[in-house]
Amino acid sequence: MKLRKMAIAMTAVMALGAISVPAAAEEEAQAQVIGISMPTQSLERWNRDGEYLKEQFEDAGYEVELVYSDNDSSQQVSDIQNLLADNVDILIIAAVDGEALNTAMDEAAEQEVPVIAYDRLIMNDAVSYYVSFDNYTVGQLQGEFIVEQLDLENAGDATYNLEITAGDPADNNAGYFYNGAMDVLNPYIEAGTLVVVSGQTDFDTVATDQWDTQTALERAQNILGSYYADGTQLDVWLCSNDSTALGVAQAITSDYAGDNSVIITGQDGDVANLANIVDGVQTMTVYKNVSNESIVTLSLAEAILNGETIDESLCDTFDIDCAYDTESYETTEGNVCPSFLLVPSVITADNLDELVDTGLYEMGDDGYLTAVE
Ligand code: BGC
Repeated sequence: MKLRKMAIAMTAVMALGAISVPAAAEEEAQAQVIGISMPTQSLERWNRDGEYLKEQFEDAGYEVELVYSDNDSSQQVSDIQNLLADNVDILIIAAVDGEALNTAMDEAAEQEVPVIAYDRLIMNDAVSYYVSFDNYTVGQLQGEFIVEQLDLENAGDATYNLEITAGDPADNNAGYFYNGAMDVLNPYIEAGTLVVVSGQTDFDTVATDQWDTQTALERAQNILGSYYADGTQLDVWLCSNDSTALGVAQAITSDYAGDNSVIITGQDGDVANLANIVDGVQTMTVYKNVSNESIVTLSLAEAILNGETIDESLCDTFDIDCAYDTESYETTEGNVCPSFLLVPSVITADNLDELVDTGLYEMGDDGYLTAVE
């Protein structure tokens, strides 16, 4: 890691016997630069992550360079290269494609710039730490929600029809969400209580490139047209996140003739999806407080920049439920990436006020939530 310019400036000042810190040295003290690379502005959550991260780091006295890469991994490589050329002191990266950043990661390693993989793991050993939510638990919560809603444990001979939409295969998280949910649902599928009428269950078939709403919508329309147009009842659609749930909900509204009590899961608490929850169109979302994710990232980055020992004691520096995990995530085989994992929660129409309590959303007189600017 680079020597801190501030330390050099301060030593020089002290050697001269100066009693106050000159303005120039104060400026140097502010000069550590945080390079933040986010995947895209086309999905709601990354706009929030970018804003929160920028605000947290700037309030703590850092300079921030924040870039978005339009969901294009080659652009993200060159965006990161530009950040490195600007001499950032640390990189915080949410990858478009966790396997496509090797060129940029090798350069970061050469320049000894530490990298925090933010939310999505990057499959390269240059990554020092990973900050995310417990991604497997996100999926588990979705699966368990479905089990409870349909009371599958007491289903007897009843059967329910299920369809599945997962996330972007390039995003390391997508498999965790899918596995977390499917590990809960598979026993009921195997027992015949849950029936996937389309037969489309494996990850590659149900995945959605770039988590794109339109892609999810079109696949759902095809499934509804092919398997449900004859009046077959659809009971539940497992969606890994809100951008895909938005597309699936639109398809169900436009292309499904049955009653509209289909259970739809999601993740993120995007404003459009919260409106759908109020309207009874989407049933739940797994909420991840990304403001808290940015606070954890700030603490971690500060500890790295200050050369502190990093372990579970970092979790005592913020009042946020978070586990230090040194087992679950590997950047390459055998190379575990120490991770700080926050805890997700389930939001339905019945506990929307929990979102208001975070201070990040407000509820209008019409009952709809908006994000607080
Ligand atoms: C994030 C989710 C998000 C998805 C699409 C994932 O990596 O963890 O919160 O819904 O990307 O943006």
